[in-house]
Amino acid sequence: MVTILTVYLTVVFCLSAIIREVPAQSENDNGICSRMYIRNGPQELSRLENCRVIEGSLQIALANGSTDQWKNFSFPLREITGYLLLYDARGLQSLRHIFPNLTVIRGQEFIHNNYALLVNDMPDMQEIGLPSLTNILNGKVWIYNNQNLCYLETIDWGKITNGTQGNGIKKNKPSEQCPNTCPLKSCPKSDQGLSLCWSNEDCQKVQVKTCPEDCDGQNCEDCCSDQCLGGCTGPGPRDCFVCKHVEYNGLCMSNCPAGTYMYLKTHYQQFFLLFHKH
Ligand SMILES: *[C@@H]1O[C@H](CO)[C@@H](O)[C@H](O)[C@H]1NC(C)=O
Ligand SMILES: *[C@@H]1O[C@H](CO)[C@@H](O)[C@H](O)[C@H]1NC(C)=O
Ligand SMILES: *[C@@H]1O[C@H](CO)[C@@H](O)[C@H](O)[C@H]1NC(C)=O
Ligand SMILES: *[C@@H]1O[C@H](CO)[C@@H](O)[C@H](O)[C@H]1NC(C)=O
Repeated sequence: MVTILTVYLTVVFCLSAIIREVPAQSENDNGICSRMYIRNGPQELSRLENCRVIEGSLQIALANGSTDQWKNFSFPLREITGYLLLYDARGLQSLRHIFPNLTVIRGQEFIHNNYALLVNDMPDMQEIGLPSLTNILNGKVWIYNNQNLCYLETIDWGKITNGTQGNGIKKNKPSEQCPNTCPLKSCPKSDQGLSLCWSNEDCQKVQVKTCPEDCDGQNCEDCCSDQCLGGCTGPGPRDCFVCKHVEYNGLCMSNCPAGTYMYLKTHYQQFFLLFHKH
């Protein structure tokens, strides 16, 4: 039996249940939160507590606070299925303390044409500071009119988005006025041999290699399962930071296993709908 309203977001979890209605506000259920629009000031960030995944988009916009107030928050967020927008949030210098573990922006919805990461008119931002970000799966990057923003040339954006075509990075702090110095320890290098980093404290993480299929021998070091995104703690599909496709009982898989149901959720957050997969 299938009941689907309008579903935009791909499935990230498999469950074994049929249809479960839940209250409209079910944030923080299993670390999965609904889209969040942070306005006014840093105190609103507390709504992100315990969110590991945002199903939908995250906007931090039209807000003001002191740099210390913004720095007072740190969240386990690893994944945003929609886009990330930063617009006119004053006092915010870096996301480094707030989202140290944000690994994947799926870009299942965009803002302004086809942007999945948009940083616009952020007067105090000095560095973006997303040291764990390895993948923007759909969509492009727009970083515009941020007069103090540096560390943009030290990121290989083409490794995060699929190539750099369509990215717009303009009218930020002129790079000759930027320190753009990477940590002393050796960071990965761009094709031109430049060190890649998010700040003078964090290197850019580039995807590690995929492990061979039969990973029981010695040939499995410094590699991750092909089901992983953003790295892993071991060679298997249970060891991923973020699953490329779906997650079932902590295991990353290409599809939900037979007899289980995909977990879907609408944009409107009226229901969770579970879809019987044959
Ligand atoms: C923004 O917040 C800072 C720190 O709380 C405060 O000093 C400043 O007056 C605020 N600015 C505006 C325009 O509200
Ligand atoms: C940081 O958070 C703590 C606890 O929530 C609060 O007591 C403190 O005033 C906050 N500091 C700033 C600078 O906002
Ligand atoms: C980020 O991930 C690391 C490693 O898993 C963990 O130790 C740390 O507590 C996480 N940070 C936050 C803010 O959750
Ligand atoms: C990446 O972009 C190229 C063309 O620029 C396209 O052919 C390819 O399918 C894209 N890959 C993914 C994973 O989207």
